Amino acid sequence: MALNQVLFLGLRTVHVLSGVFWVGVAFVVTGFVEPTARRLKGEGQRFLQVLMLQSRLRQWIMAAAWTAVLSGIVLYSSDAHYGWVFTPYGVAVTIGGIAAVAALGVGMGVLRVVADRMAELGKEIQRTGRPPSEAQGQQMAALQQKMHWASRVEVVLFIVVLVGMALGA
Ligand code: HEM
Repeated sequence: MALNQVLFLGLRTVHVLSGVFWVGVAFVVTGFVEPTARRLKGEGQRFLQVLMLQSRLRQWIMAAAWTAVLSGIVLYSSDAHYGWVFTPYGVAVTIGGIAAVAALGVGMGVLRVVADRMAELGKEIQRTGRPPSEAQGQQMAALQQKMHWASRVEVVLFIVVLVGMALGA
């Protein structure tokens, strides 16, 4: 097997593994973990905060997201010869790729920013040593709502990514 074939297969494997991790975690957290935590109210919110802000899950998600998108762009450029993009294969992968870049934008531009703000607010509340004030409670609820909707938008984008990649590859 030629070296460039080995490199291509390696890159494709890294691409699929990182993409599957990113999408899989988003589906499980949005579809099951977050709704269960909401049902448990206080305890559940605390669990979610520890999971998203104090465990290494966020770093893993970010690393997987960047790896999937960057390896995808390299694969895309290596496939994209003249006219390729206008074949049904090319159109499907292009739409899937654009949806993946948009999902990365939502992740970095909304989810990450909201999670940082939640972490700051959580620390502020802990520092006072008292239960959250009404204003802090309202702020936290608004941030959680933003996160709820942004993660749903991400899931829709991921469905477009998966359909695009499945039809295109
Ligand atoms: C959530 C992010 C992504 C996931 C889960 C994902 C998933 C996949 C999967 C599972 C395959 C293999 C499909 C098969 O062989 O049947 C694939 C292939 C491919 N993906 Fe992605 N992908 C993602 C992002 C991207 C991005 C951002 C691009 C580029 C803009 C891209 C470009 C490609 C290309 C060009 C191939 C075909 C490689 C080949 O020629 O064999 N992907 N992707």
